[in-house]
Amino acid sequence: MTILVTGGAGFIGSNFVLDWLAQSDEPVIKLDALTYAGNLENLVTLTGDTRHTFVKGSIDDFDLVAQLLAKHQPRAVVNFAAESHVDRSIHGPEDFVQTNIVGT
Ligand SMILES: NC(=O)c1ccc[n+]([C@@H]2O[C@H](COP(=O)([O-])OP(=O)(O)OC[C@H]3O[C@@H](n4cnc5c(N)ncnc54)[C@H](O)[C@@H]3O)[C@@H](O)[C@H]2O)c1
Repeated sequence: MTILVTGGAGFIGSNFVLDWLAQSDEPVIKLDALTYAGNLENLVTLTGDTRHTFVKGSIDDFDLVAQLLAKHQPRAVVNFAAESHVDRSIHGPEDFVQTNIVGT
């Protein structure tokens, strides 16, 4: 079986993936838009690890998410994708609404 982790390049998501793969061989598909908060360096220790696959994209891309669900048939989706920097919501609430509500 496989799990789909969204926001897997962020603070919580990347630590979840590292912890998951430290104790399970269940493959992980990571979907992350790599916004200002996403950083693939968080997962550099997994380079070459065939248990994980990274996909760059947004959770509000319906077609992409549908395609990933159909292809990998994950038994669970763990959603960490978020606009989490509250200060930024004052300057630009649109991204917060789009990711934290519509996309989620
Ligand atoms: N950090 C904490 O201490 C903490 C505590 C409790 C709950 N949370 C919650 O956990 C979640 C993740 O928090 P975090 O600290 O890891 O945030 P973060 O900002 O470090 O990571 C968010 C990740 O989501 C990605 N992302 C943003 N928009 C996206 C989109 N539309 N599609 C796909 N990926 C997208 C970013 O690129 C980034 O990798 C949030 O919901 C947050 O509220 C965090």
